This record gives sequence, C-alpha cells and structure tokens, in this order.
Amino acid sequence: MLTYNLDHIALAVPDLDKAIAQYENLFGGTPLYRETIESQGVEEAMLAVGGSYIQLLQPLGADTPVGRFLERSGEGLHHIALAVTDIEKALEHLRDEGARLVDDTPRQGGRGSRIAFVHPHTFAGTLIELVELKT
Ligand code: CO
Repeated sequence: MLTYNLDHIALAVPDLDKAIAQYENLFGGTPLYRETIESQGVEEAMLAVGGSYIQLLQPLGADTPVGRFLERSGEGLHHIALAVTDIEKALEHLRDEGARLVDDTPRQGGRGSRIAFVHPHTFAGTLIELVELKT
C-alpha cells in the first residue's frame, strides 16, 4: 500500500539569505539545515513549519533548472514534495498510471534522501517531488 505524506513546499528565491531572514522575522524559526546540492544546481534551506517544511531554493546559476524557473516565472512556488517509503514502487505505480516522469530513476536529494520529480502536466500544473527520506 503506497502512502504519500506532505513533506515540504518548495519556493524558488533569488536571494536565500534574504528569504531566510524574512521568514525568521515574519514567522519565526531558523533553518534546520542549509545545503548546496551541485547535482541539482541549488543551495537549499529547510524551515520547520508544524509537521511539515518549507524549502527555500536559490539557484547556483542562471543556467540551472531553478535559475531558468526564476527567469521564466519569478520567485514563488516551485514544487510540492510528497514523502514515500518506497520511491521505486511509487515511480512504477505512477508510470503505470500514465504519469509523465521527469526522473525515471531516483537521484540524490537533501539530508541523504532520494528524490524524483513528476512533470507538472501530470497533476494540477504543479511540479511534484517524491522524496524517500533517509531512515
Ligand atoms: Co524539494
């Protein structure tokens, strides 16, 4: 039985320091961690919000997926991440159901997790990230 739990909502921002400071001033709380993920071309920070998280993504350069997103759409909602316990099984299920996958196989995410993206055309025009958290 596959289950999906909301793990985080990710926002693309041009200035991570500024976005973190704004969040701290407005809503309180400090980042749980901050990590550069070269393979994704981002520096990310994770802020705890109740039982879920807000992830802030700053591109490492203009010619990265998040850099192109900022250029195209400006800052704001980038993706919603759903936690799964078995990412291969979830990908197989989604593929069987005709989902358009950005990643056929999982890749490295933050906190030692494995992630895979599902194309926005698949569901409500929103990029969905599957995340299998490191246990
Ligand atoms: Co994410």
